[in-house]
Amino acid sequence: MGILRFLTSGESHGRGLITVVEGLPAGLSVPIERLEKELERRRRGYGRGARMKIEKDHLTIWGGIWNGKTTGAPCGLTIENSEWEEWRSSMDPQSCDPKAVKEKSVYCPRPGHADLPGGLKYGHENMRPVLERASARATAAWTVAGTLARLLIESLGIEVRSAVTSVGGVTVKVPSEEEEWHVASNSPLGCVFQTDEERLKERIREAMSEGDSLGGAFVVSVKGLPPGVGSYVEWDRRLDGRIAQAMMAIPGIKGVEVGEGGRLADLPGSQVHDGIFMDEKGRIKRETNRAGGIEGGMTNGEEVLVRAFMKPIPTLTRPLPSIRLDLMEASFAHRERSDVCAVPAARIVAEAMLSWVIAEAIMEQFGGDILEEVQERFSSYVSRVGRRDDEKA
Ligand SMILES: Cc1cc2nc3c(=O)[nH]c(=O)nc-3n(C[C@H](O)[C@H](O)[C@H](O)COP(=O)(O)O)c2cc1C
Repeated sequence: MGILRFLTSGESHGRGLITVVEGLPAGLSVPIERLEKELERRRRGYGRGARMKIEKDHLTIWGGIWNGKTTGAPCGLTIENSEWEEWRSSMDPQSCDPKAVKEKSVYCPRPGHADLPGGLKYGHENMRPVLERASARATAAWTVAGTLARLLIESLGIEVRSAVTSVGGVTVKVPSEEEEWHVASNSPLGCVFQTDEERLKERIREAMSEGDSLGGAFVVSVKGLPPGVGSYVEWDRRLDGRIAQAMMAIPGIKGVEVGEGGRLADLPGSQVHDGIFMDEKGRIKRETNRAGGIEGGMTNGEEVLVRAFMKPIPTLTRPLPSIRLDLMEASFAHRERSDVCAVPAARIVAEAMLSWVIAEAIMEQFGGDILEEVQERFSSYVSRVGRRDDEKA
């Protein structure tokens, strides 16, 4: 059991989602507006379904936060489903109407979704319960957990941001300067330039008009980490492995790279590894960051850069061939209101999940029941090993 952990419950069209986060130190400020802001960023984008326009992600804190700060108890939060009344007759866990349940039945699994394997595994011929829990709606609850973790690491001077790098084969500028990261982080589609944003929108409109869907790629960056977060001593302490697991867990993500990732496989070592130098004050420095801030399963003090690749959305308005499981006859996949492209939203979930992994590693390494303890232990470690941003100051 890790020091920091979270669980979620709830269905996509159920009463709502529940997040319970345990292990945060007491005394961490949790402005509810910040949680709401991250949920709002997750809802934005272009090519998102009608639901994102309807949803308001009404958030309620049930415990573990008092007077704006964590108390040390598990933090329990819920996000209400604003369409609950519409779904209640078919989704109420305590009493639902068999006629409404029948109307919302799903017998034709969507290729690319959890429908078929999930239905077979849990014995649901009507795959509605699979859709409901496998849906990426759960990532709103993950975003809540990840944002709590993010508040913790931000209190240690660590910053997380992201940018979209491609949608449906159209590539856009990757941020290289602080200002560009800032712009991309705040842009609905995660772009540095408005013209790039328009190009992505155009590609999404094209897919929409063809009844198709799109995937793409994004990059997440973490600044302000000292060297030595994570460890090489056991496989499950390696930070890159833990990051990959968290990124791959995001629905639709099919590949993860740290730094230059797969491109390094084709180059000789002399063109890959980042030489170690000293600056004029005798401090260690790197001139390149192809490793993406991680060597030997640990941060090396450089910016952590993680790329992720998302497959196209599986729910299509022109559905793919499937079968009706109850009749075992050829048919077409189930259609449901859906996004056409969720890459800009997935990168917000990725910011939250990366924050989670970093916070987990930091809590394991430094621990502490109250925030000041964590901060003191972290800053005493930073004063021993150094941190790029502090060195510059
Ligand atoms: C934020 C977000 C929103 C998504 N929205 C949809 C959607 O509206 N419709 C859909 O079919 N898939 C959507 N997906 C993708 C599916 O959840 C995903 O492709 C599916 O769970 C199978 O992916 P897997 O094979 O990686 O588990 C979304 C993913 C994310 C991260």
